[in-house]
Amino acid sequence: MDLNLLSLPGDGIGPEVTLEAERVLSAVAARFGHCVKIERGLIGAAALEAGYDPLPPATCAAAKAADAVLLGAVGLPGYDLHPPARRPEKGLLELRSALGVFANLRPVKAYASLVQASPLKEERVAGTDLLILRELTGGLYFGEPRGITQGRAVNTMVYTEPEIERAARLAFTLAMGRRRRVTSVDKANVLENSQLWRQVVDRVAKDYPEVTLNHLLVDNAAMQLVLEPAAFDVLLTENLFGDILSDEAAVIAGSIGLLGSASLGERRKDGRLPGLYEPIHGSAPAIAGKGLANPLGAIASMAMMLDWSFGLTEEAACVEESIGWLLDHGSLTPDLGGKATTREVGEALCARIGVLAGTAR
Ligand code: IPM
Ligand code: MG
Repeated sequence: MDLNLLSLPGDGIGPEVTLEAERVLSAVAARFGHCVKIERGLIGAAALEAGYDPLPPATCAAAKAADAVLLGAVGLPGYDLHPPARRPEKGLLELRSALGVFANLRPVKAYASLVQASPLKEERVAGTDLLILRELTGGLYFGEPRGITQGRAVNTMVYTEPEIERAARLAFTLAMGRRRRVTSVDKANVLENSQLWRQVVDRVAKDYPEVTLNHLLVDNAAMQLVLEPAAFDVLLTENLFGDILSDEAAVIAGSIGLLGSASLGERRKDGRLPGLYEPIHGSAPAIAGKGLANPLGAIASMAMMLDWSFGLTEEAACVEESIGWLLDHGSLTPDLGGKATTREVGEALCARIGVLAGTAR
């Protein structure tokens, strides 16, 4: 199979973790007989520094033309006070919007070998296997009007019924393949947006009678997530709540550096599924270029790409199994208490994939 990717390494540790994801992808492709073609593009501060907008038009066009997009991270502290349109993050938000990737899937698992790496008590974390479905192209991130004028700042939280419905449908569909529980997060005691969210989710739930639905207010959800993470299956949230809760959920796994994500759009008429794959962590400029970054989040995102964009479930499982093996057998980066470099983790995985696929054949 031909896998045509656009790789957007971005800023900070983005390039080094993306490079390892690309190498591991090459290892999988070599073993399973696929042909990977990778085009590279600029986004975020890397684009700004080259004199372009945070999402250069060429990057946007290449992203739409590719079968899937791999992204490292965007953002550098030097841009903190720049106007929103000239901030690195703007590039990522525009890309999500241009690709129409409305559903961000962020799986969080407690690996048995890492439960002691989590700051939470082992008995709370053990057995956690949840999936955050974060709505990604609506809400406060994109609502108009927005801006700062004369000492007054405005942001607008907007959701339409169809936007809520498509995210909810996907959450229920995914729950059907899991433990059949959806927890929908909102702030319906205060926000009209959340009242509509709850109504639409309740309506969609009627089409999935085998799935148990419950609603949690976001403040309570934040608390339950650390009190009883193993009780969650699919956690459905709007954009900003999902951003916040997914960083919180990362402490369950032991390190945010482990977590990958898939951002998916609606299937196009030609049958293609828009997909953007990025680790949950940020650009971590303080450790960039030092070989300290954990590439597993980027590699896990790449595995999700194999699965979602290419339907290569065996290949995706091979990468996931290798990550599990690596976590059991050492070669961890400092965020997980190890001494391995970014490159060494990538190399160990490539070697393991060679072994795995070799024995499978
Ligand atoms: C994330 C990030 C982004 C977001 C930033 C970089 C714009 O925090 O993907 O979680 O807020 O969506
Ligand atoms: Mg975030």
